[in-house]
Amino acid sequence: MAKTKTKWVCQNCGYETVSYLGRCPDCGQFSTFTEEVTQAKVEIKTSSPSNALVAGNLGYSKIDDIKLDETIRVKTGIEEFDRVLGGGFVEGSLVLLAGDPGIGKSTLVLQAGKNISDSGHKILYICAEESPSQVKLRAERLNANSENLYVTAQNCLEEVLAQIDDLKPDFLIVDSIQSVFSAQITSSSGTVSQIRECTNLLMRTAKLKKLTTIVIGHVTKEGNIAGPKVLEHMVDCVVNFEGDKFRQYRMLRSIKNRFGATSEVGVFSMDDCGLTEIKNPSELFLSEIGEENCPGCTIIATVEGTRCLLLEVQALVGNTPYPSPRRVARGIEYNRLLQILAVLEKRVGLNLSKQDVYTNVIGGVDIIEPAADLGIAMAVLACTRDICCKKDMVIIGEIGLSGEIRQVDNLEKRLKEAQKLGFKEAIIPKITSDIVSQRVKNLKIKTIQVSRVVDAISKSFVG
Ligand code: TYD
Ligand code: MG
Repeated sequence: MAKTKTKWVCQNCGYETVSYLGRCPDCGQFSTFTEEVTQAKVEIKTSSPSNALVAGNLGYSKIDDIKLDETIRVKTGIEEFDRVLGGGFVEGSLVLLAGDPGIGKSTLVLQAGKNISDSGHKILYICAEESPSQVKLRAERLNANSENLYVTAQNCLEEVLAQIDDLKPDFLIVDSIQSVFSAQITSSSGTVSQIRECTNLLMRTAKLKKLTTIVIGHVTKEGNIAGPKVLEHMVDCVVNFEGDKFRQYRMLRSIKNRFGATSEVGVFSMDDCGLTEIKNPSELFLSEIGEENCPGCTIIATVEGTRCLLLEVQALVGNTPYPSPRRVARGIEYNRLLQILAVLEKRVGLNLSKQDVYTNVIGGVDIIEPAADLGIAMAVLACTRDICCKKDMVIIGEIGLSGEIRQVDNLEKRLKEAQKLGFKEAIIPKITSDIVSQRVKNLKIKTIQVSRVVDAISKSFVG
């Protein structure tokens, strides 16, 4: 085999050189060079007569002439996981499972692997981080032993490819991408160039051999997957596994899916015997609310994918000892909180310039949609004025910069979930559509429509 040639490329400006340089002579940045394989010249193959395409034989064709393969999906047997994937793993796809170290990625794939192998699919598990006996111990603990599950400690991908040719598995689990390497590149495993080359290799193998591949990737300190998000654009699906390390709840969130909807979430609880699905997370997250309402707590309804979650938002506002006040947002996007506070100051007249503001979403959930704005604003306002929000009330609405309450999607779904969980009232944006208005009227939950933040204040609080 001819020796693979490599080049070093500046990740900032694209300058190429044959050896590593500490500083780019072109853009002047330090430590930006990574090694890349120079692709061998590819011979252009003309199609065989049977493959001859209508429009020509150079590889292009009319979209009408393309035959669709039937998409085969393999279910993991874990409903929450399947929903996040859009109905199971698509055959020959490459799924990246990303998350902080220790969050439970290996546990999840092993539990899913057990169900998949029990349904007759052969799995090869590359345990590059642990020894096969450690994997066996965990499998026994999780009751995930299966005769179709094969384990290898080999972390050189070219060697693994030989094992794949021999074993012919249906599934490949790579645990993790940071600890495997390609012999084509001299840099050590875990570097950006290794990760990129290995993912490329795995992607080609997945498509060529119709080998469904699950790649585990640790999120680095900066919150990126393996550094500068190198993997996300290459793979078919990216599923994030997140949660509060100090609590047992874990959320599985799809952030890219070539074969289904994104922003679906699955909720799990990490227990002694592995991960268990939580079918009704709202009930669980709200179970800790006491009998008495306390100032600074509100309930919001957020939609994640196809599911509605009811969550408690808490705010704490107090005089600051610092020259510039602190803003802490857990579970809420920081800039979103700043915007809500700015609206409260300008449109409601709340003076927060000398106040620290802490906000928290209970359950370790990250809220990404703006429909929670009004609930967050009311929590901050309630804490500032030391008043309680009405019991059994849900607050729904996005806040615009002029203090107006904007429409939200899936209003009926949110209200139905609130009604199901025993809530009696809901503050909602003004309904403009007759159809939605009629549907909402048919619900038992009492709705209070507001068009500005100031209107919501008089309707949300006790007394
Ligand atoms: P693991 O799947 O090894 O995490 P990752 O692969 O994301 O690094 O899970 C590690 C954590 O999960 C560890 O702190 C122990 C905990 N755990 C349980 O609480 N119960 C269990 O049954 C298992 C297998 C792990
Ligand atoms: Mg692991």
